[in-house]
Amino acid sequence: MKVIEIVPAILVKTVDELNQRLKEVEPYVKRIHIDIMDDIFVPNKTIQPEDMSDFKTKLMKEVHLMVEDNEKYVDKFLKLGFDMIIVHAESCKDIPRIIKKVKDRGKKVALSINPPTPLSAIKNYLDDLDMVLIMSVNPGFSGQSFDPSVLQKIRELKSMKKDLDIEVDGGIKVGNARLVVEAGANIVVSCSGIYNFEDKKKAIEALRKNVILT
Ligand code: DX5
Ligand code: ZN
Repeated sequence: MKVIEIVPAILVKTVDELNQRLKEVEPYVKRIHIDIMDDIFVPNKTIQPEDMSDFKTKLMKEVHLMVEDNEKYVDKFLKLGFDMIIVHAESCKDIPRIIKKVKDRGKKVALSINPPTPLSAIKNYLDDLDMVLIMSVNPGFSGQSFDPSVLQKIRELKSMKKDLDIEVDGGIKVGNARLVVEAGANIVVSCSGIYNFEDKKKAIEALRKNVILT
């Protein structure tokens, strides 16, 4: 059984907010999820890679690219030294090319799908991926409600490839965190489920406790 990881998501517009949010969780987790939006693939714009040259952390850093021009953003985040690059199957024009580009740099690569997108969009790539990110909200904003219909998708994905890392992102709180892990996910992303609480350490511990299956 894989260790279940709780990963804070940071969705911000400025580098000051980014550093502030990072500082608040850095002592309590191993990995951080940075949300990047271009106002084209999703109707919102976040901090851009050009603003992040001073961004440093000892945590494993993954970037969740919710953008139309994947090639451009992948290059920039590889340059910034990100450990894992997540691209959306819906916007990626040449998935094998992106997978190869990231792997050639010795980094990890993942594909993500939105709630309406079927597993058929990614099934041919499962053997080449380090992870799949199942979105449990339509991406764009934090603080949206978890879509329980993705639980079945997680179960199916798990049955297609037992040892695949499955991450879930969107509306995760104490309660549904357990449901996604029961369905087969082993990496759980949360923004408002952590940052809406005064005590971030306690919020992370509560999520961790919630995903212990006995
Ligand atoms: C959604 C982003 C998520 C988001 C999660 O577009 O990809 O990572 O920040 O926020 P919560 O956990 O509040 O739904
Ligand atoms: Zn995300």
